[in-house]
Amino acid sequence: MQASACQCQQPEGCTPNWGQLTCAETTKLLSSTIEAIGDTPLVELTRLARGRAGRLLVKLEYLNPGFSKKDRIARQIIEDAEADGTLAPGQTVVELTSGNTGTGLAIVCAVKGYPFVAVMSKGNSPERARMMRALGAEVVLVEQLPGSQPGQVSGGDLELVEQTARRIVVERGAFRADQFHHRGNFRAHYLHTGPEILRQAGTSVDAFCDFVGTGGTFAGCSAALKEANLKRNVTLSSQPARPCWPVSRLRTRITASRAAGTR
Ligand SMILES: Cc1ncc(COP(=O)(O)O)c(C=O)c1O
Repeated sequence: MQASACQCQQPEGCTPNWGQLTCAETTKLLSSTIEAIGDTPLVELTRLARGRAGRLLVKLEYLNPGFSKKDRIARQIIEDAEADGTLAPGQTVVELTSGNTGTGLAIVCAVKGYPFVAVMSKGNSPERARMMRALGAEVVLVEQLPGSQPGQVSGGDLELVEQTARRIVVERGAFRADQFHHRGNFRAHYLHTGPEILRQAGTSVDAFCDFVGTGGTFAGCSAALKEANLKRNVTLSSQPARPCWPVSRLRTRITASRAAGTR
Protein backbone atom coordinates (compact mmCIF):
# COMPACT_ATOMS: atom_id res chain seq x y z
CA MET A 1 0.00 0.00 0.00
CA GLN A 2 1.30 3.45 -0.90
CA ALA A 3 1.82 5.75 2.10
CA SER A 4 0.55 9.29 1.61
CA ALA A 5 1.57 12.48 3.34
CA CYS A 6 0.15 12.76 6.83
CA GLN A 7 -2.67 15.26 7.43
CA CYS A 8 -2.33 15.33 11.19
CA GLN A 9 -0.44 18.62 11.59
CA GLN A 10 1.90 16.97 14.09
CA PRO A 11 5.43 18.36 14.47
CA GLU A 12 8.02 17.22 11.95
CA GLY A 13 9.17 13.64 12.11
CA CYS A 14 5.74 12.12 12.18
CA THR A 15 5.39 8.78 10.39
CA PRO A 16 3.51 8.97 7.10
CA ASN A 17 0.12 7.31 7.36
CA TRP A 18 -2.05 5.22 5.08
CA GLY A 19 -5.14 6.49 3.30
CA GLN A 20 -7.31 8.99 5.14
CA LEU A 21 -6.14 8.23 8.66
CA THR A 22 -4.06 10.77 10.52
CA CYS A 23 -0.94 9.47 12.22
CA ALA A 24 -2.55 10.30 15.57
CA GLU A 25 -5.19 7.66 14.78
CA THR A 26 -2.81 5.03 13.39
CA THR A 27 -0.43 5.28 16.31
CA LYS A 28 -2.99 5.73 19.10
CA LEU A 29 -2.15 3.41 21.97
CA LEU A 30 -5.30 1.80 23.37
CA SER A 31 -5.52 0.98 27.06
CA SER A 32 -7.40 -2.28 26.43
CA THR A 33 -9.04 -4.39 23.72
CA ILE A 34 -12.38 -2.85 24.71
CA GLU A 35 -11.22 0.43 23.21
CA ALA A 36 -10.64 -1.36 19.91
CA ILE A 37 -14.37 -2.09 19.64
CA GLY A 38 -16.24 -0.02 17.06
CA ASP A 39 -15.04 2.68 14.67
CA THR A 40 -14.96 0.02 11.98
CA PRO A 41 -14.32 1.09 8.38
CA LEU A 42 -17.16 2.04 6.04
CA VAL A 43 -16.38 0.97 2.48
CA GLU A 44 -17.98 2.19 -0.73
CA LEU A 45 -18.70 -0.67 -3.16
CA THR A 46 -18.02 1.31 -6.30
CA ARG A 47 -17.98 -1.64 -8.74
CA LEU A 48 -21.26 -3.13 -7.49
CA ALA A 49 -23.01 0.25 -7.71
CA ARG A 50 -21.54 1.17 -11.11
CA GLY A 51 -24.19 2.42 -13.50
CA ARG A 52 -26.75 2.94 -10.73
CA ALA A 53 -27.83 6.07 -8.94
CA GLY A 54 -26.47 6.54 -5.45
CA ARG A 55 -23.72 4.93 -3.42
CA LEU A 56 -23.59 1.51 -1.76
CA LEU A 57 -21.75 1.52 1.58
CA VAL A 58 -20.91 -1.43 3.83
CA LYS A 59 -19.64 -1.42 7.39
CA LEU A 60 -16.88 -3.94 8.13
CA GLU A 61 -18.09 -5.15 11.49
CA TYR A 62 -15.96 -8.30 11.29
CA LEU A 63 -13.01 -6.06 12.08
CA ASN A 64 -14.14 -5.77 15.69
CA PRO A 65 -11.85 -7.69 18.11
CA GLY A 66 -14.34 -10.58 18.44
CA PHE A 67 -15.06 -10.50 14.68
CA SER A 68 -18.64 -9.20 14.89
CA LYS A 69 -20.80 -6.20 15.76
CA LYS A 70 -21.85 -8.05 18.90
CA ASP A 71 -18.69 -6.75 20.62
CA ARG A 72 -20.42 -3.38 20.63
CA ILE A 73 -23.45 -4.56 22.58
CA ALA A 74 -21.27 -6.57 24.95
CA ARG A 75 -19.40 -3.40 25.88
CA GLN A 76 -22.56 -1.27 26.13
CA ILE A 77 -24.58 -3.77 28.18
CA ILE A 78 -21.73 -4.29 30.65
CA GLU A 79 -20.93 -0.57 30.94
CA ASP A 80 -24.61 0.41 31.29
CA ALA A 81 -25.05 -2.26 33.97
CA GLU A 82 -21.96 -1.01 35.80
CA ALA A 83 -23.32 2.53 35.63
CA ASP A 84 -26.81 1.70 36.95
CA GLY A 85 -25.51 -0.70 39.61
CA THR A 86 -27.17 -3.87 38.28
CA LEU A 87 -23.69 -5.40 37.83
CA ALA A 88 -21.45 -5.46 40.89
CA PRO A 89 -17.64 -5.67 40.78
CA GLY A 90 -16.55 -9.28 40.22
CA GLN A 91 -20.12 -10.56 39.72
CA THR A 92 -20.58 -13.43 37.28
CA VAL A 93 -22.12 -12.57 33.91
CA VAL A 94 -24.27 -15.15 32.10
CA GLU A 95 -25.61 -15.09 28.55
CA LEU A 96 -27.42 -17.45 26.22
CA THR A 97 -25.51 -17.22 22.95
CA SER A 98 -24.89 -18.95 19.66
CA GLY A 99 -21.41 -17.45 19.58
CA ASN A 100 -21.01 -13.84 18.57
CA THR A 101 -22.48 -12.10 21.62
CA GLY A 102 -20.69 -14.62 23.81
CA THR A 103 -17.37 -13.86 22.13
CA GLY A 104 -17.89 -10.13 22.70
CA LEU A 105 -18.84 -10.71 26.33
CA ALA A 106 -15.87 -13.03 26.84
CA ILE A 107 -13.55 -10.23 25.73
CA VAL A 108 -15.24 -7.44 27.70
CA CYS A 109 -15.62 -9.57 30.86
CA ALA A 110 -12.01 -10.79 30.70
CA VAL A 111 -10.70 -7.24 30.49
CA LYS A 112 -12.97 -5.97 33.27
CA GLY A 113 -12.59 -8.96 35.60
CA TYR A 114 -16.07 -10.51 35.51
CA PRO A 115 -16.31 -14.32 35.31
CA PHE A 116 -18.37 -15.08 32.21
CA VAL A 117 -20.54 -18.12 31.55
CA ALA A 118 -21.75 -18.66 27.97
CA VAL A 119 -24.70 -21.04 27.73
CA MET A 120 -24.96 -22.55 24.29
CA SER A 121 -26.71 -25.40 22.50
CA LYS A 122 -24.56 -28.38 21.50
CA GLY A 123 -26.01 -27.78 18.04
CA ASN A 124 -24.11 -24.50 17.70
CA SER A 125 -20.63 -24.23 16.28
CA PRO A 126 -17.98 -26.09 18.35
CA GLU A 127 -15.36 -23.62 17.04
CA ARG A 128 -17.27 -20.80 18.73
CA ALA A 129 -17.27 -22.68 22.02
CA ARG A 130 -13.51 -23.23 21.71
CA MET A 131 -12.96 -19.56 20.92
CA MET A 132 -14.97 -18.39 23.94
CA ARG A 133 -13.07 -20.81 26.20
CA ALA A 134 -9.77 -19.54 24.79
CA LEU A 135 -10.91 -16.03 25.73
CA GLY A 136 -11.47 -17.14 29.32
CA ALA A 137 -15.19 -17.93 29.30
CA GLU A 138 -16.80 -20.94 30.91
CA VAL A 139 -18.94 -22.54 28.20
CA VAL A 140 -21.90 -24.68 29.24
CA LEU A 141 -23.14 -26.80 26.35
CA VAL A 142 -26.76 -27.92 26.51
CA GLU A 143 -27.86 -31.18 24.83
CA GLN A 144 -30.26 -30.83 21.92
CA LEU A 145 -33.71 -32.45 21.96
CA PRO A 146 -33.71 -36.12 20.89
CA GLY A 147 -33.60 -36.36 17.10
CA SER A 148 -32.18 -32.83 16.61
CA GLN A 149 -29.39 -32.25 14.14
CA PRO A 150 -26.09 -30.57 15.05
CA GLY A 151 -25.91 -27.27 13.19
CA GLN A 152 -29.70 -26.91 13.30
CA VAL A 153 -30.84 -25.41 16.57
CA SER A 154 -34.61 -25.54 16.94
CA GLY A 155 -36.94 -23.48 19.12
CA GLY A 156 -37.18 -26.49 21.45
CA ASP A 157 -33.37 -26.68 21.71
CA LEU A 158 -33.25 -22.97 22.53
CA GLU A 159 -35.87 -23.41 25.25
CA LEU A 160 -33.57 -25.95 26.94
CA VAL A 161 -30.66 -23.49 26.72
CA GLU A 162 -32.87 -20.76 28.20
CA GLN A 163 -33.82 -22.98 31.15
CA THR A 164 -30.17 -23.78 31.83
CA ALA A 165 -29.18 -20.10 31.60
CA ARG A 166 -31.90 -19.17 34.10
CA ARG A 167 -30.80 -21.89 36.50
CA ILE A 168 -27.16 -20.78 36.38
CA VAL A 169 -28.15 -17.14 36.98
CA VAL A 170 -29.99 -18.15 40.16
CA GLU A 171 -27.33 -20.60 41.36
CA ARG A 172 -24.50 -18.10 40.95
CA GLY A 173 -26.31 -14.87 41.78
CA ALA A 174 -25.24 -13.75 38.32
CA PHE A 175 -26.06 -10.83 36.06
CA ARG A 176 -27.84 -11.91 32.87
CA ALA A 177 -26.62 -9.79 29.94
CA ASP A 178 -29.87 -10.58 28.09
CA GLN A 179 -29.32 -9.07 24.67
CA PHE A 180 -32.97 -9.64 23.78
CA HIS A 181 -34.15 -7.27 26.49
CA HIS A 182 -31.28 -5.13 27.80
CA ARG A 183 -31.38 -1.56 26.49
CA GLY A 184 -27.62 -1.55 26.02
CA ASN A 185 -28.21 -3.55 22.83
CA PHE A 186 -30.22 -0.74 21.21
CA ARG A 187 -28.02 1.96 22.76
CA ALA A 188 -24.78 0.50 21.34
CA HIS A 189 -26.04 1.06 17.82
CA TYR A 190 -28.00 4.26 18.47
CA LEU A 191 -25.06 5.92 20.20
CA HIS A 192 -22.22 4.49 18.10
CA THR A 193 -22.86 2.41 14.95
CA GLY A 194 -25.46 4.77 13.46
CA PRO A 195 -23.53 7.99 14.17
CA GLU A 196 -20.32 6.36 12.84
CA ILE A 197 -22.09 5.57 9.56
CA LEU A 198 -23.29 9.18 9.27
CA ARG A 199 -19.87 10.59 10.10
CA GLN A 200 -18.07 8.28 7.68
CA ALA A 201 -20.61 8.69 4.87
CA GLY A 202 -20.42 12.45 5.31
CA THR A 203 -24.11 12.76 4.44
CA SER A 204 -27.53 11.46 5.44
CA VAL A 205 -28.40 7.89 4.39
CA ASP A 206 -31.46 7.09 2.23
CA ALA A 207 -31.82 3.38 2.99
CA PHE A 208 -30.42 0.99 5.59
CA CYS A 209 -30.32 -2.81 5.28
CA ASP A 210 -29.43 -5.33 7.98
CA PHE A 211 -29.76 -8.94 9.06
CA VAL A 212 -31.96 -9.12 12.12
CA GLY A 213 -31.61 -11.37 15.12
CA THR A 214 -32.59 -9.42 18.22
CA GLY A 215 -33.30 -6.33 16.11
CA GLY A 216 -30.91 -4.22 18.23
CA THR A 217 -28.70 -3.11 15.33
CA PHE A 218 -31.64 -2.47 13.07
CA ALA A 219 -33.59 -0.42 15.63
CA GLY A 220 -30.59 1.48 16.99
CA CYS A 221 -29.07 2.38 13.61
CA SER A 222 -32.48 3.18 12.10
CA ALA A 223 -33.28 5.54 14.96
CA ALA A 224 -29.94 7.34 14.61
CA LEU A 225 -30.12 7.49 10.81
CA LYS A 226 -33.74 8.58 10.91
CA GLU A 227 -32.73 11.64 12.90
CA ALA A 228 -30.60 12.50 9.85
CA ASN A 229 -33.40 11.84 7.33
CA LEU A 230 -33.29 8.09 6.68
CA LYS A 231 -36.16 7.31 4.31
CA ARG A 232 -36.33 3.55 4.26
CA ASN A 233 -34.97 0.51 6.04
CA VAL A 234 -34.89 -3.11 4.97
CA THR A 235 -34.28 -6.09 7.21
CA LEU A 236 -33.21 -9.56 6.19
CA SER A 237 -34.25 -11.98 8.89
CA SER A 238 -31.44 -14.46 9.38
CA GLN A 239 -32.54 -16.15 12.55
CA PRO A 240 -35.67 -17.72 13.98
CA ALA A 241 -36.86 -14.15 14.17
CA ARG A 242 -38.00 -12.97 17.54
CA PRO A 243 -36.72 -9.42 17.33
CA CYS A 244 -37.37 -7.56 20.54
CA TRP A 245 -36.32 -4.09 19.60
CA PRO A 246 -38.94 -1.82 18.05
CA VAL A 247 -38.46 -1.43 14.31
CA SER A 248 -39.00 2.17 13.30
CA ARG A 249 -42.14 3.41 11.62
CA LEU A 250 -40.24 4.04 8.41
CA ARG A 251 -41.16 2.07 5.33
CA THR A 252 -39.82 -1.31 6.40
CA ARG A 253 -39.56 -4.46 4.33
CA ILE A 254 -38.87 -7.76 6.05
CA THR A 255 -37.41 -10.53 3.93
CA ALA A 256 -36.83 -14.00 5.35
CA SER A 257 -33.47 -15.21 4.11
CA ARG A 258 -32.79 -18.80 3.06
CA ALA A 259 -30.84 -19.23 6.27
CA ALA A 260 -33.91 -18.50 8.40
CA GLY A 261 -34.24 -20.95 11.22
CA THR A 262 -30.87 -22.53 10.73
CA ARG A 263 -28.68 -20.43 12.97
C1 LIG B 1 -22.98 -11.65 12.69
C2 LIG B 1 -24.35 -11.26 13.10
N1 LIG B 1 -25.06 -10.45 12.28
C3 LIG B 1 -26.30 -10.07 12.62
C4 LIG B 1 -26.90 -10.49 13.79
C5 LIG B 1 -28.24 -9.94 14.16
O1 LIG B 1 -28.04 -8.68 14.82
P1 LIG B 1 -29.09 -8.10 15.85
O2 LIG B 1 -29.20 -9.05 17.00
O3 LIG B 1 -28.58 -6.74 16.25
O4 LIG B 1 -30.41 -8.01 15.12
C6 LIG B 1 -26.21 -11.33 14.64
C7 LIG B 1 -26.88 -11.82 15.85
O5 LIG B 1 -26.51 -12.73 16.49
C8 LIG B 1 -24.91 -11.71 14.30
O6 LIG B 1 -24.21 -12.50 15.13
